[in-house]
Amino acid sequence: MDYSKLKSHWEETAKKQSELKKSLTHSDQYLPFLESEAILSNLKETDEILEIGCGACDNSLPYIKKCKSYIGVDVIDTFVDLAKKKISDNKLNNATVINTDGLEYIQENDILQNVLITQRFIINLKKEAQLLFFKELRKKKSKLTRIIICEGFNEELLELNRLRKIAGLDEIKVAEYNNFLDKHFIDELLKLGYKIVKEINFNIYFFITRIFNNKSFVFSTEDIPPVAYEFEKMKLFTFDNNISYSKILILEL
Ligand SMILES: C[S@@+](CC[C@H](N)C(=O)[O-])C[C@H]1O[C@@H](n2cnc3c(N)ncnc32)[C@H](O)[C@@H]1O
Repeated sequence: MDYSKLKSHWEETAKKQSELKKSLTHSDQYLPFLESEAILSNLKETDEILEIGCGACDNSLPYIKKCKSYIGVDVIDTFVDLAKKKISDNKLNNATVINTDGLEYIQENDILQNVLITQRFIINLKKEAQLLFFKELRKKKSKLTRIIICEGFNEELLELNRLRKIAGLDEIKVAEYNNFLDKHFIDELLKLGYKIVKEINFNIYFFITRIFNNKSFVFSTEDIPPVAYEFEKMKLFTFDNNISYSKILILEL
């Protein structure tokens, strides 16, 4: 499959990240904190982790520190170099990062870990490859028992955009190199035999940062995300509409 556009996007991002010494894999600084804290709370000290699309391991250090062993995989060599440096600077000796394609890695290797993590990796694959990734996992001789995916979801984005429209705000568009997952995809996963054992969403954070976003509080200023982050952690209010277009699903095989 032709991933040249996507690869040049991530190559450029990784080079900029290396120069600026600042994580550039997400434009929203606080959302990855919520995601990673939620992922971390679902990891155990005995876990052996495989993370596909780990990037520079910007979010992965806490996982590595908590778990027994960690293998990260990323297709961009500059990200892999940054990840390796981070691991060695932190004197962590239970982690390795491999520079290869994530889907090929799954196809060519037995999975010796019990946990698989993806944090905004699957949305980088084309539709057919997304399902193939999960089909291959089921075929493999593997020790996997838990799959933690933190990805972008289409119906939630549509719902968020419906509310944004009422609030007079522009539609949030998915980047052209991303393919958000949807209900049809989830149904296919269930047909393959995966079970969804937990769903973690960040509706409060999304409501505050993406809707409570009037002219005096523009999302790009630094005012809103830290407040939204605290409110989300407190679970300050319940919110029935599902607008958390980034969410975590924990799957079992
Ligand atoms: C949105 S970034 C997320 C990085 C990291 N998981 C994080 O949360 O910061 C997506 C990552 O997936 C990697 N990626 C994209 N396509 C890939 C592929 N086919 N195989 C392995 N890694 C890939 C990119 O290089 C990038 O590091």
